[in-house]
Amino acid sequence: MMSKGEIVLGCLAPHPPHLVYADNPPQNEAYSEGGWETLRWGYARLARKLKNIDYDAIVIFTPHWQTYIGTHFLGLPEFKSKSVDPIFPNLFRFNYDLKVDVDLAEKMREAADEAGIITKMMTNPDFRVDYGTITSCHLLNPDWDKPIVTISSNRNTHYYSPEVMIEQAGALGRACAKAIEESGKRVVLVSSHSLSHRHFVTEAPLPEDMSLEHIYNHSQYVWDMKIIDLMRQGKSREVIDIMPEFTEQTIAETEGGGLIWMMAAMGHPDYSAEIYGYQSVIGTGNLIASWDPNDETREYVL
Ligand SMILES: [Fe+2]
Repeated sequence: MMSKGEIVLGCLAPHPPHLVYADNPPQNEAYSEGGWETLRWGYARLARKLKNIDYDAIVIFTPHWQTYIGTHFLGLPEFKSKSVDPIFPNLFRFNYDLKVDVDLAEKMREAADEAGIITKMMTNPDFRVDYGTITSCHLLNPDWDKPIVTISSNRNTHYYSPEVMIEQAGALGRACAKAIEESGKRVVLVSSHSLSHRHFVTEAPLPEDMSLEHIYNHSQYVWDMKIIDLMRQGKSREVIDIMPEFTEQTIAETEGGGLIWMMAAMGHPDYSAEIYGYQSVIGTGNLIASWDPNDETREYVL
């Protein structure tokens, strides 16, 4: 019998396209003079940790693949196209060619279906993978040498309420954890979103001009620090409990369900999150963090 699969790390990985733009990878057509180093260096540090972890696949939940009927999973072995950010086409025109762990995607879909969740596999070869998936995965693993699975964000918050989202994304997380265990694979989970999400509505003449970057307002900063403090203390259940109010006050992308899904899949960790960096991007609050279930490798980073 094969050994039980497990979640080897959970990452909160924000996806401002600005961070890819600032890095100037060969896949992106835009050119920059840098910017947002606190986040980019934090990502590089977490990417180095990931290089030392033995894992088979990355499973990422993104708020920018929005589905109204059910939860969808990438369902073909390869997707190749150009991803253009709809708001920032000047910054992000990224040529991607990514591999999918279809076997794992199907197992998670089946487990979700058994839990009563409406599901579908995405098998359209022309489907364009969202920029949230691409940005977070690129910054966590610039070599793109591991297969991924993207899970869509069903619009529970908008169609029903934030409380229904907590129920639904939690059930999805538990189903994914069960499927991962049965798969025998070692899996990294990624929740792709920022914290506070109020943002400027005009762009600086030079987008990477750091003299113009700051948090949108002080209340957003206070909310973000509250969440980070709870994460440091290992109070992940409390983070989920205050999520409806946090989401409303900061119009956060937590509405998409990613963090709720990941914390449920990991059994609501009571150990400290590893903190890799916090910085604003066009006024939004962005935190890079991870949850390492292994006591021996868990670090105090920042
Ligand atoms: Fe976003």
